[in-house]
Amino acid sequence: MLRNNSGIDTVFSLILPIAIGIKPGLRGFARFYIMILYLRNCVQKSRSNTLSTLLFYCLLLTRQLNIVMPEVLSRASRVPVLSGSPPKDCGNDKLRKFVAEVIIFTTLFFALSLNAFAGHLEPFKAAPIPKHNPQTPEKIELGKKLFFDRRLSGDSTMSCATCHMPELSFTDGQDISLSYPTTKNWRNSPTLINVVFQKYLFHDGRVKTLEDQALFPMMSAFEMNKNLDFLEEQIRVVPEYVEAFKKVFNGEVTRERIAMAIAAFERTLISRNSPLDKYLAGDKNALSSDARKGLEIFIGKGECTECHHGVNLADNKFYALNVPENPVLLNEPGVTATMRFVAKVYHYKDYRNLKEDPGRYLITKDKMDWKAFRTPTLRDISKTAPYMHNGVFGTLDEVVEFLDKGGGKGNKALKPLGLSAEEKRFLKTFLVEALSGEDIVIKYPEIP
Ligand code: HEC
Ligand code: HEC
Repeated sequence: MLRNNSGIDTVFSLILPIAIGIKPGLRGFARFYIMILYLRNCVQKSRSNTLSTLLFYCLLLTRQLNIVMPEVLSRASRVPVLSGSPPKDCGNDKLRKFVAEVIIFTTLFFALSLNAFAGHLEPFKAAPIPKHNPQTPEKIELGKKLFFDRRLSGDSTMSCATCHMPELSFTDGQDISLSYPTTKNWRNSPTLINVVFQKYLFHDGRVKTLEDQALFPMMSAFEMNKNLDFLEEQIRVVPEYVEAFKKVFNGEVTRERIAMAIAAFERTLISRNSPLDKYLAGDKNALSSDARKGLEIFIGKGECTECHHGVNLADNKFYALNVPENPVLLNEPGVTATMRFVAKVYHYKDYRNLKEDPGRYLITKDKMDWKAFRTPTLRDISKTAPYMHNGVFGTLDEVVEFLDKGGGKGNKALKPLGLSAEEKRFLKTFLVEALSGEDIVIKYPEIP
């Protein structure tokens, strides 16, 4: 409500609660004003703003706040709420009532409007670290070595960094990711930046922790194709690794500890000090005026924050936007084979006739999840093209165009936005300019 509209709104939203406190008669005017805001938000099709305005309006309608918070108010004003005839206010009670009302109104208003403010985008503060795998410098260093170690793949040609290259913001820059030699992958390699904030991993969210995730690509027939029993023995004969595992885990090399060390390294890959972080921390000059207009669209007319919010600009949920299929899915036999293989592994009965990526449906078998994919982070988005689970869009312009049209055929998650060419440009400027953090510089480790 505050950010989305003009400065007048801001002034009013600060003054109104106080004014009502002084002169309760002003509630009528406030209701009228909030109604206008509500209608405007409706017109601007801003769901969250509309909702918060509506809520505030309802609160005003209750007139007597003690309907909402009888306990607090009656204590503050010492007026028994439910007793017969209310005693006459003495001066002191009036003052208490006034103070209570101002406090409650201001708190409510800010709670509601802050919610809409920047669509609850949050600056980076701290990364969540699981208790069972605390970060230590030695563990992070060990994980980094393993991340770059080609021993982790069957024919020793690939490391994790092959498909998550530091220079390409931990992607591989391909639409469909690279793969184990002679095989094909079928999805886009996501960035590992801010992966620490993801509640679900992979485009379909089939894994929940980085420790569990790390073993998947190693075992995958079309990614690293490694036998993990063999890997353990190969690492156990390298004295530097044996030493490092003893130091870090006080024990020997195991696949679980390999995964724990890699996860610790991945948790250090964080987008920091982006212009958006600085802006949210109060530096209003951190964004150019075009990017600020883009932000307004991002949280307002574009409704992007319905799904892209929080510190990671992602809500940890799954939606079927019906992104067009990447043609290689059916045109390249190797990719088709991989799609069928994954579907078979996940017990999809008719896997040989599959013509599209079923998304999260493969995991949950819930019809609602057909072609649903996890909301990805938008941090460093300008550096992680191509986009979507199948890399079908090469540029942010294509993504914005797709979203403006209301997404893919038959989807229920998005609706047409009707953005002008200029508004699309502002939105893109916001995505490119505001969300790029400092470059993450990785010094390549020496592999023992
Ligand atoms: C051959 C390319 C390739 C290699 C090698 C590879 N990955 Fe990936 N990675 C991918 C692809 C593709 C996905 C997405 C797959 C999906 O969603 O189905 C992915 C997803 C991930 C994710 C989930 C990210 C997210 O946002 O959900 C993590 C974490 C990850 N990889 C870490 C690793 C680690 C650690 C290694 C090494 C042990 C590794 N990857 C090796 C291609 C690769
Ligand atoms: C209903 C939820 C929802 C809304 C609203 C939404 N998105 Fe997304 N967004 C997603 C999902 C889900 C994906 C991933 C789809 C896929 O991989 O197939 C995505 C993907 C993206 C991507 C590509 C990210 C990548 O790394 O591939 C960009 C950029 C993006 N959205 C920007 C926006 C912008 C800008 C808006 C507002 C105009 C917006 N989104 C509105 C859910 C949403």
